[in-house]
Amino acid sequence: MFGGKGGVGKTTTSAATALHYARISRKTLIISSDLTPSLSDIFEMEIGPTEKPVPGAQNLHALEIDPDEVMRRWKEKFGPEVYAAASALIDLPYDEVVDYVAMAPGIQEEFMLDYILERVRDGRYDMIIWDTAPAGDTLRLLGLPQRFLEHLRVAPKVYLEVRDSFKLSRTPFLEIIRSWRELSEQTMRFFGDPANVEFILVTIPEALGVYQSRRVIRDLQQHGLDVRYLIINDVIVDPNGAFLRQRMEMQRPYIEMLYEEYGDRMTLVKLPLLPYEVKGIERLREVEGFLFGGEG
Ligand SMILES: Nc1ncnc2c1ncn2[C@@H]1O[C@H](COP(=O)(O)OP(=O)(O)O)[C@@H](O)[C@H]1O
Ligand SMILES: [Mg+2]
Repeated sequence: MFGGKGGVGKTTTSAATALHYARISRKTLIISSDLTPSLSDIFEMEIGPTEKPVPGAQNLHALEIDPDEVMRRWKEKFGPEVYAAASALIDLPYDEVVDYVAMAPGIQEEFMLDYILERVRDGRYDMIIWDTAPAGDTLRLLGLPQRFLEHLRVAPKVYLEVRDSFKLSRTPFLEIIRSWRELSEQTMRFFGDPANVEFILVTIPEALGVYQSRRVIRDLQQHGLDVRYLIINDVIVDPNGAFLRQRMEMQRPYIEMLYEEYGDRMTLVKLPLLPYEVKGIERLREVEGFLFGGEG
């Protein structure tokens, strides 16, 4: 998972990383869940919500998650059982019931994680690179299964009360809740286990980048996730004029700060500010070179 503030280089570094693993023969899928997906732009092809091979890169597929598609699949997967349970209590048309439940807090985010997990589990890929939405949204995504679970905790009680007052005997709703809770717990276990997931934080050496990173690292820790890689992007290494020298001086203390705070518990990687935008396979290969060096 690549996370970080908007515009710091998540898509750039995740695309270069995906290219890297594809190049060393790992079957790789890169997924973007950003509402303004830019994988299409960076790979210079139309990607969209179904997996597509990336031309010019063997072993690499790409996918841009569409929230409407995620919702459609949710309804397909859970719609019938949601309706079966609800129809024991209320008499409403199928679509109204399912649409209503689909709007419950956390369901969409929960299912986004499940959607990614499905791709992990189907075993067609050795490596899945997830270019996440800007930091706040990612945290929301990871925090929600927790809140969703807390939300569900009261549901059986409410249901039992309703059931008793209506003198109903069926309890499929409880089973649905149980299966959702299991789904949610599985998802949290999966994403919280460093054996499965590596969280790579991307930042830039400026106050806003550094402060935001601190918050993200702390918040992820609260969800039991350790950040073990930090990419410092846009680093000026070879200034050829007063303007760039001044910016390099501006960056220096922030870079030192990051090394001081995280150098002993994370791998920090500096990515130089390049004189061009990173677009297309050729440019991405250059970024790959900076990120992975000669070590393959
Ligand atoms: N090291 C770099 N040098 C020069 N341009 C860069 C570098 N990293 C990213 N960029 C450019 O910065 C812009 C934002 O990068 P992007 O990866 O889309 O950020 P994010 O996905 O975090 O919003 C893009 O136009 C990209 O080409
Ligand atoms: Mg992006």
